[in-house]
Amino acid sequence: MDCTQTIRARRSIRKFKPGVSIPRADVETMLEAAMMAPSARNTRPWEFFVVEDPEIKARIRAAHPYSAMLDTASLAIVVCAQPEAQADMGVDFWPLDCGAAIENLLLQAAALGYGTCWCGCYPAMDRAKAIQAVLGAKAIPTALISVGAPDEAPARKGFYQADKVTWLWEQSGNVIRAQRRGKEGRSCYER
Ligand SMILES: Cc1cc2nc3c(=O)[nH]c(=O)nc-3n(C[C@H](O)[C@H](O)[C@H](O)COP(=O)(O)O)c2cc1C
Repeated sequence: MDCTQTIRARRSIRKFKPGVSIPRADVETMLEAAMMAPSARNTRPWEFFVVEDPEIKARIRAAHPYSAMLDTASLAIVVCAQPEAQADMGVDFWPLDCGAAIENLLLQAAALGYGTCWCGCYPAMDRAKAIQAVLGAKAIPTALISVGAPDEAPARKGFYQADKVTWLWEQSGNVIRAQRRGKEGRSCYER
């Protein structure tokens, strides 16, 4: 799958085939993809926790109210933020940097044939703190990602929405703003 196909094939998976073990090399490929995300001033304000151990996985699952899919997932990857990496920047870009890392990880997993589900933590601090306690981490959990072999094939939820896009151009000294119709409900890529 190339990038165009992978982006469109990714789904949030909430049912995984039980008993599947993911090779460490694949996990590291996902983590590398996450760490190749852009970050403000290349501060790389992230840290990752990988949990395959069923006991610890169950404790993480109990700390997040919307993570039932973790019961059947092969493992959990918690993407955490290190805000102190941007302490001298005067502006907090770290949640965005971590979001980019999370999405890279999801797409890499999809390209390798794995299913994932992003469960949000920060800024829901109750969940973030509960997972932080399980991990014994100083970094702030931004996402709990379940990873495994998909045991469902949900319909695509993403779609192109022309009314979310404004096109601007200049004409005779005036800035023209317009929304263009078309492509609605169909993939631009598949049209
Ligand atoms: C910030 C964020 C938090 C999310 N939290 C949860 C969650 O706690 N539990 C869950 O099952 N899905 C969660 N999701 C997944 C969304 O529900 C899912 O991405 C959305 O319904 C679109 O479906 P798709 O990912 O299959 O395209 C989260 C997604 C994002 C981006």
